[in-house]
Amino acid sequence: MAPPPRVPLVLLLLLAAERTARGTFPEEPGPIAVAPPDYVKHYPVFVGHGTARPGGPEGGGTQRLSIQRILKVNRTLFIGDRDNVYRVSLEPSGATEMRYHRKLTWRSNQHDISICRMKGKHEAECRNFIKVLLVRNESLLFVCGTNAFNPVCANYSMDTLEPVGDNISGMARCPYDPKHANVALFTGGMLFTATVTDFLAIDAVIYRSLGDSPTLRTVKHDSKWFKEPYFVHAVEWRSHVYFFFREIAMEFNYLEKVVVSRVARVCKNDMGGSQRVLEKQWTSFLKARLNCSVPGDSHFYFNVIQAVTDILELDGRPVVLAVFSTPTNSIPGSAVCAFDMTQVAAVFEGRFREQKSPESIWTPVPEDMVPKPRPGCCASPGMRYNSSSAFPDEILNFVKTHPLMDEAVPALGNAPWILRTMTRYQLRKIVVDNAAGPWGNHTVVFLGSSTGTVLKFLILPNATSSPVPASPGSQSVFLEEFETYQPGR
Ligand SMILES: *[C@@H]1O[C@H](CO)[C@@H](O)[C@H](O)[C@H]1NC(C)=O
Ligand SMILES: *[C@@H]1O[C@H](CO)[C@@H](O)[C@H](O)[C@H]1NC(C)=O
Ligand SMILES: *[C@@H]1O[C@H](CO)[C@@H](O)[C@H](O)[C@H]1NC(C)=O
Ligand SMILES: *[C@@H]1O[C@H](CO)[C@@H](O)[C@H](O)[C@H]1NC(C)=O
Ligand SMILES: *[C@@H]1O[C@H](CO)[C@@H](O)[C@H](O)[C@H]1NC(C)=O
Ligand SMILES: *[C@@H]1O[C@H](CO)[C@@H](O)[C@H](O)[C@H]1NC(C)=O
Ligand SMILES: *[C@@H]1O[C@H](CO)[C@@H](O)[C@H](O)[C@H]1NC(C)=O
Ligand SMILES: *[C@@H]1O[C@H](CO)[C@@H](O)[C@H](O)[C@H]1NC(C)=O
Repeated sequence: MAPPPRVPLVLLLLLAAERTARGTFPEEPGPIAVAPPDYVKHYPVFVGHGTARPGGPEGGGTQRLSIQRILKVNRTLFIGDRDNVYRVSLEPSGATEMRYHRKLTWRSNQHDISICRMKGKHEAECRNFIKVLLVRNESLLFVCGTNAFNPVCANYSMDTLEPVGDNISGMARCPYDPKHANVALFTGGMLFTATVTDFLAIDAVIYRSLGDSPTLRTVKHDSKWFKEPYFVHAVEWRSHVYFFFREIAMEFNYLEKVVVSRVARVCKNDMGGSQRVLEKQWTSFLKARLNCSVPGDSHFYFNVIQAVTDILELDGRPVVLAVFSTPTNSIPGSAVCAFDMTQVAAVFEGRFREQKSPESIWTPVPEDMVPKPRPGCCASPGMRYNSSSAFPDEILNFVKTHPLMDEAVPALGNAPWILRTMTRYQLRKIVVDNAAGPWGNHTVVFLGSSTGTVLKFLILPNATSSPVPASPGSQSVFLEEFETYQPGR
């Protein structure tokens, strides 16, 4: 296929100059190239069923896909759908459709479906939506589905997609409602999940289960720990697991609800508290705000985190890139900010924030009021307390009542690396190739929008060490844009 036409750069610069100035936001140049409408036509499409069946999207008994999760293992893709998991090989075949090589059908049984219907749920919701899809060991997948609002999990062979062993409850591992966001990861044989644990989706948790350590959760129904969270991603880094999410901020004394983005962390080796305080709960849970904002006279925050990458090495630093947007009822806009994990960790070594009484404003906790060893630290052999369950009550009580850090995590360069504010869509997804180009030494970011547009940006070399504060968007070049939504397919 012919490459998309290259638009002369000078023309684009002229067009950009024509645009009217918009307050504190810098100009946003358009892409260097815009792909023609049929650009994605030559990429194979996954349609679910095994054979090509012409006759329109509803014809031929074809079921629409409802893809919930995708897991890539080397050159194999596992696709978690409604009632099905597909295994697809990524080796190029030249075909216009990507066929699955194996399919696992895992439907809810009639009993679960009728209970779901009796509780007032719609027929279309009382199905098994696959929400957790992880590698358990070299030969096993760990899969959880909503199972008609009665979540279940089980091991499946990676090779044959046959079930291996018994089902276990999916409660606190998988949401009940397919609309809810959840995250999950395995490390050291332990499953870390963030989801809601009940039918009504009121009780949000970060939960650890399986493996040899005790099962732990966050404190129940305590708005200091969580207020209507929406979980986006989890990564492990050194002795902790970090969770990225958004929630309603408790620390502003505003009347209206304000959503903010956060990162929380827990120690992998947490053993829970004592029998008096935080028993079977995290003793290391702390959270901090993420600061993705455009500096200027009226400082503008992108508060709604949408997606986060795994940890990448950029200019030798451990970095995650995150997509943020404005709230849906506000002017549309999106930004990509980068966060250095060492700076994330540093915020958790900083001051705590507290509210002394329900009416007072939130203030930093003076250093001499913080007990020692530091609340939220990981106990380890050789330390004075070799297990978190041995921590004195004073420390456990402090952690229980002070989960919020005072400072926000700064974005690298103190400004977004990519900014889009003149669009009708919001950016929702991010994928990074940090071995792009002929020498494999360039970083290219692909962003997916709410309307199916894919935007491609080149991150400029040494973006992480650019002068501070950088001007927003100056660390990237907008390479290309193409539409993936094809109404005809
Ligand atoms: C994926 O590739 C890596 C490196 O070649 C290998 O060690 C690993 O076992 C592979 N994973 C699976 C599930 O085949
Ligand atoms: C994975 O787990 C299964 C079931 O427990 C076990 O039989 C198998 O030996 C394990 N495979 C590896 C490579 O550890
Ligand atoms: C799944 O596989 C893991 C790893 O082999 C094993 O420990 C576990 O008992 C299996 N079954 C369930 C229900 O988790
Ligand atoms: C696991 O759950 C599914 C769906 O509810 C059910 O069809 C299957 O029989 C269960 N398998 C086992 C081994 O319990
Ligand atoms: C840019 O990054 C490379 C490799 O990370 C490093 O060797 C070089 O010194 C950096 N240059 C500047 C100007 O910071
Ligand atoms: C922790 O210390 C106690 C005594 O202080 C000891 O009995 C226990 O074995 C130690 N545990 C670990 C995991 O080192
Ligand atoms: C966010 O970062 C900007 C730019 O460095 C800074 O001016 C602002 O005070 C920060 N906001 C918070 C809440 O830390
Ligand atoms: C990538 O590698 C090529 C060839 O070694 C080199 O010329 C180029 O400067 C490198 N680019 C970056 C961004 O490091």
